[in-house]
Amino acid sequence: MSKTKTIFVCQNCGQTAARWAGRCPGCDSWNTLVEEIRTVERGGPRRGAGGSTPVILGSVRLEEEPRRPTGIAEFDRVLGGGIVPGSVVLIGGDPGIGKSTLALQMTAHLSRAGVRCLYVSGEESIRQTKLRADRLGEGFPDELYIVNELNVEAIRSHVETLGPRVVVVDSIQVVYHPELTSSPGSVSQVRECAAALTRLAKEGGAAVFVIGHVTKDGAIAGPRVLEHIVDTVLYFEGERFTAHRLLRGIKNRFGSTNELGVFEMTASGLREVANPSEIFLAERPHGASGSVVVPILEGTRPFLVEIQGLVTRSSFGMARQKAQGYDANRLAMLVAVLENRLGMHLQDRDVFLNVVGGFRVLDPAADLSVATAVASALLARPVDFETAVLGEVGLSAEVRSVSQISWRINEAAKLGFRRCVVPANNLKGHLTYDRSRITLVPVATVREGLDAACPPPVGGGARRRDRDAGDG
Ligand code: TYD
Ligand code: MG
Repeated sequence: MSKTKTIFVCQNCGQTAARWAGRCPGCDSWNTLVEEIRTVERGGPRRGAGGSTPVILGSVRLEEEPRRPTGIAEFDRVLGGGIVPGSVVLIGGDPGIGKSTLALQMTAHLSRAGVRCLYVSGEESIRQTKLRADRLGEGFPDELYIVNELNVEAIRSHVETLGPRVVVVDSIQVVYHPELTSSPGSVSQVRECAAALTRLAKEGGAAVFVIGHVTKDGAIAGPRVLEHIVDTVLYFEGERFTAHRLLRGIKNRFGSTNELGVFEMTASGLREVANPSEIFLAERPHGASGSVVVPILEGTRPFLVEIQGLVTRSSFGMARQKAQGYDANRLAMLVAVLENRLGMHLQDRDVFLNVVGGFRVLDPAADLSVATAVASALLARPVDFETAVLGEVGLSAEVRSVSQISWRINEAAKLGFRRCVVPANNLKGHLTYDRSRITLVPVATVREGLDAACPPPVGGGARRRDRDAGDG
């Protein structure tokens, strides 16, 4: 016996309510509750009636999780070494960023290796997907199946009859569960379909990749509500008008998060970028003030990125700070440190900061290079071309130590940097790097960092010139 029940679900946060209200009790947004009719089984599961038995954790034997490489090294890195059978992976990102392309390339690779794959294309017709595959030049592996299906129950039966090891569902916003009355893409549908796909993965052992669109602010119902259901969450990001795409691990039950894969979108699909530092530094200007290179760390991987600063006189005395690829609050803090502790005149200046290549820097080790970029631009003192700058900055303008310094120094040395400005405190620890290739310049304060990275012009009067540049 089953009966139906009416509930109201917030399309913003997924909160359910028995009665309609103008304002969601969960997230306070207006007009987001939508009526849904659900079927509930009479006399549902009885408490304590499950078939589970507690076991002693120490007695659990584990076999090594077999992982299946996707054939795309950058993708494997973010997955934590390959695909885990029975896992559910969410690939989120802005529309048009390349999620379908990545998924199709992955299935083409896998099926060439003899792994049966099913690509459920809900958004595009089979013809469109075929055209895309032709464009990718991936060939036509026998083990790659495609179906145009929106009903999650039908997808389930296809998986049962076909027995694929990898399933791609493109996208979660268009599939629906026939037992729910709400429209595809609503919170309940997304959640219910994700749960059904998760059951499918856990029971049959196929790895399921779920594609989901996210808008910039992540406010639209969808992927956000299913982050906790799936095993792994990856976000595919990048600026639409630059070719670089970054695949970032947000959550991973089978590996470390914070790993990053770098791709380039070309006319024939996504190409792996094995050495990203090179492209991020490819067009660095010689002798320009305000340009600083920092070895940042993403997961276990060091990267060199160029940070650029520009300082101009502000109009109407309204000083603004704008950052691209960097936290504006952190920039404001560093500008305040330069102003207050180093006496630089930035009150009536607009400060612009840009991380080159559409990259987003979150690593605090970039603090000193941001401060250096701003100061170098203000004082018109170019940073030495072969010097990289590292260090976290505190509010007293002290330079604090950074993590994994050896990796960072070695990456800089590998790309031809001869000097690296480093926090003095880091030298207390044990460092392993090639002393014949790169020299370390330890600094304890932002002032020392500046003088090391962009030395004041010889012939004296450095302070005076600084002041002039600051005032004038
Ligand atoms: P797509 O994978 O459809 O994005 P998503 O699934 O995330 O919405 O990628 C769409 C964009 O990628 C589209 O603007 C065209 C571009 N593209 C290329 O530049 N080269 C290619 O080989 C392919 C297939 C797409
Ligand atoms: Mg798509």
